[in-house]
Amino acid sequence: MSLLNKAAVVPRALTHRELVELLTWPDADALFAAAYEVKCREIGRFVSFRGLVEFGNICEKDCYYCGIRKSNGNVHRYRMDADEIVREAEWAFKEGYGSLVLQSGELTGEANATFVENVLRRIHAFGGDDFGVTISLGEQNEETYRRWREAGAHRYLLRIETSNPELYAKLHPADHSWERRRDSLRALRRCGYQVGSGVMSGLPGQTADDLAADIEFFAAEDLDMIGMGPYIPHAETPLGKDALWTSELRKQRLELGLRMIAVTRLYLHDVNIAAATALQALDPEGREKGLLAGANVIMPNVTETRYRADYQLYAGKPCLNENSALCRGCLERRIAAIGETILWNRRGDSLHWRRR
Ligand code: 5AD
Ligand code: FES
Repeated sequence: MSLLNKAAVVPRALTHRELVELLTWPDADALFAAAYEVKCREIGRFVSFRGLVEFGNICEKDCYYCGIRKSNGNVHRYRMDADEIVREAEWAFKEGYGSLVLQSGELTGEANATFVENVLRRIHAFGGDDFGVTISLGEQNEETYRRWREAGAHRYLLRIETSNPELYAKLHPADHSWERRRDSLRALRRCGYQVGSGVMSGLPGQTADDLAADIEFFAAEDLDMIGMGPYIPHAETPLGKDALWTSELRKQRLELGLRMIAVTRLYLHDVNIAAATALQALDPEGREKGLLAGANVIMPNVTETRYRADYQLYAGKPCLNENSALCRGCLERRIAAIGETILWNRRGDSLHWRRR
């Protein structure tokens, strides 16, 4: 039996070597097709949408790769007020998105905790339990995670960025801790969230062994949702400022991002996997390609257009000038074109989480 068939039959049963072999599989299209087949068998030809609200770009962190890191003085900083966030959430709800992601730069402290808590309560008041609310607000103490969970958030996204602590240390200042981030994922689990994490692929110094270990990390932490994307240099960051960036590199980076999706699907089978917007930054059809490589979630931006340019984590962010209604129509056509159906008005919980 070929390794592709073997992976498709039994979940979580490959060795580290076999994961590396799949990641470097010579026939990329066969790899993507095998992963897509697993996705269709487990989930059907369905795509879940999450309306993404990027509600602020003020950040206490200083990650070397990220465009909104606190040391980047060129960024115009913004933070929406509660009414604006709730208005955008309501729009997404009425449009049938079924689920929402609130993301911002990382802020800690009591004022922030209370602010978010109140926003979550207001969203829960109109959305109820049928509206999926995901938050992506970085590392917080367990008490804060618990308060936000009780206020109505039920999923949390916190990327580990890389499962390799040495590589993590090269990508972050000394006061950013890989262990603290891993422990945050465990705290989120204890608080009853559906837990999502992920990595960037194509980071300087990252190997196929690292990427295989990332996928093993997803399994070991028993994650419900995976969000991964290719690393894209940002000129105003330490890691990106002198980076070589050619069309050949973009192509390779896109393919690597798709390979990560495919191998993650072939290994984990029943988790939610997002086709990250960073894929679309590399190729106008990047997200559709992500779906055809095994992803089942897309996070259309529903942030008001005037804020979008200020939330640039990497170069070439798509849809900067589109408004949310345009994005909705555009995506609907794109999804229909590949024969998939959007699950409007559905929370789209992770199958893995439901089976737990
Ligand atoms: N390229 C790709 N992804 C990036 N992120 C931050 N900076 C970049 C970049 N330059 C991702 C990180 C973070 C998520 C919100 O965005 O993985 O967790
Ligand atoms: Fe924004 Fe297509 S998704 S215009």
